[in-house]
Amino acid sequence: QFNVLHRFKGILFSAMSSEALLNSLDSFDAREDDVFLVSYPKSGTHWIAEVIENIPNAGITLTSPIEFGDISKFEELKMYSKRRVIPTHLSYDMLPMNIKQKQCKIIYIVRNPKDTAVSLFHYYKDNPNLPCIETWATFLELFLRGDVVYGSWFDHVLNWEEHENDKNILIIFYEEMKEDLFKSIKKIATFLGINVSDSEINKIARKTSFSEMKNNAAKINCDPNHTICALTSNRNLVFRKGAVGDWINYFTSKQKRVFDELFTEKMKHSELARHFEDYS
Ligand code: A3P
Repeated sequence: QFNVLHRFKGILFSAMSSEALLNSLDSFDAREDDVFLVSYPKSGTHWIAEVIENIPNAGITLTSPIEFGDISKFEELKMYSKRRVIPTHLSYDMLPMNIKQKQCKIIYIVRNPKDTAVSLFHYYKDNPNLPCIETWATFLELFLRGDVVYGSWFDHVLNWEEHENDKNILIIFYEEMKEDLFKSIKKIATFLGINVSDSEINKIARKTSFSEMKNNAAKINCDPNHTICALTSNRNLVFRKGAVGDWINYFTSKQKRVFDELFTEKMKHSELARHFEDYS
C-alpha cells in the first residue's frame, strides 16, 4: 500500500511509471504525425480515445500512455507503423522535448475540478493501484494540496493553459462534450485533418455514449499492456457515473467554500477557468 506511488520531481506518480522511464522521457523520438491525448486523470481521456478510435479510416493506433511502464517503452512505441495516438497525464513541462520541437498535435481535455476530484476519489477507492483512502474529506484535502497522483489539478491546468494558443494544441472541455458531442467530434476530426460525414459523426456519437462505453467495458477482456490510463488497465473501473455536477452530492457547504477560495486564488489569471463558472 505504501509504495504504490512515488515522487518524481515533486509530483506523485504511479509505481507503473518507472523512475527510469520518467528520467529518460527526453530521449523519446517523436514523429511529426504523432497525436498526444493529454489530460489530468479523470477528465474524460477514455472518452476522447474512443471517439478517435471510432473515426472511420483514421489510420491510427492508440498506444498505452507514454509514461506507463519501464525503460523498454520507447522500443515498444517504435514498432507501430501507423500514426500513433499516445495518451499521457504529463504536464506540458514534463512532456518530451522532441514533441514540442516537432510541434506534434496535442489534444488537451479538461473537466471542472470539483467533478474531477469526486471522480478521482472513487478511483482511489476502487483501484488497487492507488493508495487506500478512508473518507472523502481526507481525499479532498490531498486533492487541494496536490498530494495526489499527477499532482495539483490547478498546476496542471495552468501549465497547459500557457500553451493554449499554440496552433498544434486543441483544448476540449468534458462539459462541452456532454452538451454537444456531435460538435466536439467534428472539432476533433477537423483538428486531426480527417474528413468525416455528418452521418458518420452521428454514428460515432452513438458508439461513444456513456452507456454504450460502460456496457462494452464489461465485455472487453483487460489486456494489462493495452491501457489508456497509466493507473489501471481495468476498464470496469473507469465508467462510474459520467455526469456533470455530481460533486454536489459530496461537497459540504464548508468544503465548497474552501475549494472556491483556493480556486479563485490559484486561477485568478486564468481565462480557461471561466469555463467552469457555470459548474460550480
Ligand atoms: P466519473 O467518475 O465522474 O463517472 P478518464 O477517462 O480520464 O479516466 O475519466 C473518467 C471519467 O470520464 C469518469 O467520470 C467516466 O465515467 C467519464 N466518462 C468516460 N466515458 C464517458 C462517456 N462516454 N460519457 C461521459 N462520461 C464518460
